[in-house]
Amino acid sequence: MGPPGIPAPDARPPITLREFRATDIPFVSAIVAEALHEHYDPSLYSSLSTEWPGGFLVGADSSDVPVGFLLGVNQVEGEARVLMFAVDRRERTRGVGTLLMSTFLDRCRARQFRRVTLEVRVSNATAIRFYSRYQFSVIDLLRAYYSDGENGYQMARDLP
Ligand SMILES: CC(C)(COP(=O)(O)OP(=O)(O)OC[C@H]1O[C@@H](n2cnc3c(N)ncnc32)[C@H](O)[C@@H]1OP(=O)(O)O)[C@@H](O)C(=O)NCCC(=O)NCCS
Repeated sequence: MGPPGIPAPDARPPITLREFRATDIPFVSAIVAEALHEHYDPSLYSSLSTEWPGGFLVGADSSDVPVGFLLGVNQVEGEARVLMFAVDRRERTRGVGTLLMSTFLDRCRARQFRRVTLEVRVSNATAIRFYSRYQFSVIDLLRAYYSDGENGYQMARDLP
């Protein structure tokens, strides 16, 4: 323990950000299963990354193993949509999500997107608070949006 009032330095190795590659699929799938309770065909990740590789960001540990990712797509002209965003439970609240989101928004600005949208479960208070910190606000209620019947919020923010 350090002196009182001074936060202990994070002893964990630093996380570096890079674009997704196909060898990440097993690790990304595991994070999705645990954090989002979804199971997708592995080919989905590669096919979603081809159109805008810069929108699929991975935070990797010192062994280059993904500990979190943000998968953004550009389906509507001038807009990005965050399709998936999750950090390994053991690596949360150390800034990985912040690093992913701030880099993603920079990349959206570089592409001159005017807006970013996303969907989130109404019960996911942690993510809603996180997104609010990034100036996203609720623009719509999506009834029974999730496969288990839960409602979703659509959230959006303008850029810059
Ligand atoms: C939402 C999610 C991606 C955030 O990832 P994360 O890596 O924990 O994000 P950060 O560490 O950058 O920030 C999380 C919180 O920890 C705090 N934090 C960040 N670094 C910190 C540090 N070193 N010490 C203490 N707190 C810290 C942040 O202030 C933030 O608090 P806030 O959201 O209440 O403002 C993560 O919670 C997650 O994977 N959740 C499950 C999946 C999910 O819900 N995804 C969204 C679906 S739409």
